[in-house]
Amino acid sequence: MATRLALAAILFTIVVAEDEPQPVNQSDCGCYLINGSVPTYYSQRMFFDFRDLEASVNVPDPLDSVTANSDASTSSDYFESEGFLGVWELQGWSRHVDHDGSTVTMVNTPNNVYIEAKDDDDDDATSDTFLTMRTKRFPKFQTAAEISSNSDYFYVSLRMLARTIGAPGAVTAMFTYRDSDELANVQESDIEILTKGRRDKIQYTNQPSYSDDGDEFPEATRNASTPGNRLWSEWMVHRMDWTPDTVIWYVDGEETANIEFQTPTDPCRVIFNAWGNGGSWSGNMSVYDEAYLQIQWIEMIYNTTDGVEASKKRSASLSVRDDDDEGCTAVCSIDERDEVGEVMLLWDSGAPRMGSWVGATWAAFFTAVALILLAW
Ligand SMILES: *[C@@H]1O[C@H](CO)[C@@H](O)[C@H](O)[C@H]1NC(C)=O
Ligand SMILES: *[C@@H]1O[C@H](CO)[C@@H](O)[C@H](O)[C@H]1NC(C)=O
Ligand SMILES: *[C@@H]1O[C@H](CO)[C@@H](O)[C@H](O)[C@H]1NC(C)=O
Ligand SMILES: *[C@@H]1O[C@H](CO)[C@@H](O)[C@H](O)[C@H]1NC(C)=O
Ligand SMILES: *[C@@H]1O[C@H](CO)[C@@H](O)[C@H](O)[C@H]1NC(C)=O
Repeated sequence: MATRLALAAILFTIVVAEDEPQPVNQSDCGCYLINGSVPTYYSQRMFFDFRDLEASVNVPDPLDSVTANSDASTSSDYFESEGFLGVWELQGWSRHVDHDGSTVTMVNTPNNVYIEAKDDDDDDATSDTFLTMRTKRFPKFQTAAEISSNSDYFYVSLRMLARTIGAPGAVTAMFTYRDSDELANVQESDIEILTKGRRDKIQYTNQPSYSDDGDEFPEATRNASTPGNRLWSEWMVHRMDWTPDTVIWYVDGEETANIEFQTPTDPCRVIFNAWGNGGSWSGNMSVYDEAYLQIQWIEMIYNTTDGVEASKKRSASLSVRDDDDEGCTAVCSIDERDEVGEVMLLWDSGAPRMGSWVGATWAAFFTAVALILLAW
């Protein structure tokens, strides 16, 4: 009996192994399927890795005048590279005190976005370098940091391995954004961390969460706990899946919020920032204090409005693609993997017929033998 069971177990293992996702080159992927409560297909992928950028490390001193901040140049060549500039734009805009209950001028500056090396006494460090976005309070203004995509995305599963550290009075955020002159027409899905707040609470919102008249829309927002009440000052994967019907948020793969209300319906920018304005929402940072959003990597799988064009182009170069298929034939995952940055092939329904036929036949054969052994 024991032998038969062992044999059956081995045969079942062989069958399961047939279906194990395998690492592949992303150029072999026709699309990506996300896991979680709303499995969704996206066509393209980008990965920005800040974990090993020793040559770009430079932590510029904060600048104590508004003009110097606005005029500042980038902190290292990394932010001038084609790979970065092709997708992102460091922001330099300012906002004066007349806005949204702010009490100090806020100045975005490229000087607050830099590659930093881990500290020798940083016991939490899990990478040699990371990207830091800094916000610092000066007596008359607050400097801030913002990275915006320079084009729109139309649905995205956006992830970052990040932590927020520093003084109360800052907001760090990852969000999608579509601007409008009218508040009611803004489209935006947010992850926001308030450094004045509890470290196990994250605010998730499909904006606007209030009207011009000051009415609040509680159904637009969740003040959620992190899984296991872990602290956002520790490294965690923050994830936001913008799908056609709803937006779902995760921390380290565990769902933290799901909001259907006001799910954005038009293409949006992708933005990261760290800021404060002395207002009642962000809080009032003490003069000369600082806070930081630190990011080891950013990964996004996404569609664009010209995604249809792009996927046609890709399919031309992929012999495996079956254009009658609604999704795609070579389906990949960035969830089912061992190593960050890897892309796994889940299945390829257009793979050479012989291969999949042989695979399926062997799987059926082994399953049958295993069942016979068990029933014996
Ligand atoms: C992935 O494929 C592309 C295009 O075929 C190629 O340029 C690149 O070197 C490949 N990457 C790896 C890691 O094999
Ligand atoms: C979120 O909830 C916590 C406790 O449940 C509370 O202390 C905090 O003020 C809330 N934050 C917001 C922005 O409502
Ligand atoms: C989904 O993938 C994430 C990694 O992206 C993982 O942490 C999580 O456990 C997975 N969820 C399920 C239900 O497999
Ligand atoms: C914000 O803090 C500064 C000192 O850090 C103080 O001078 C100022 O009055 C405060 N503003 C508000 C609105 O509390
Ligand atoms: C993204 O584009 C692909 C190819 O056009 C499509 O199959 C998929 O459903 C799209 N995803 C979303 C979320 O719209």
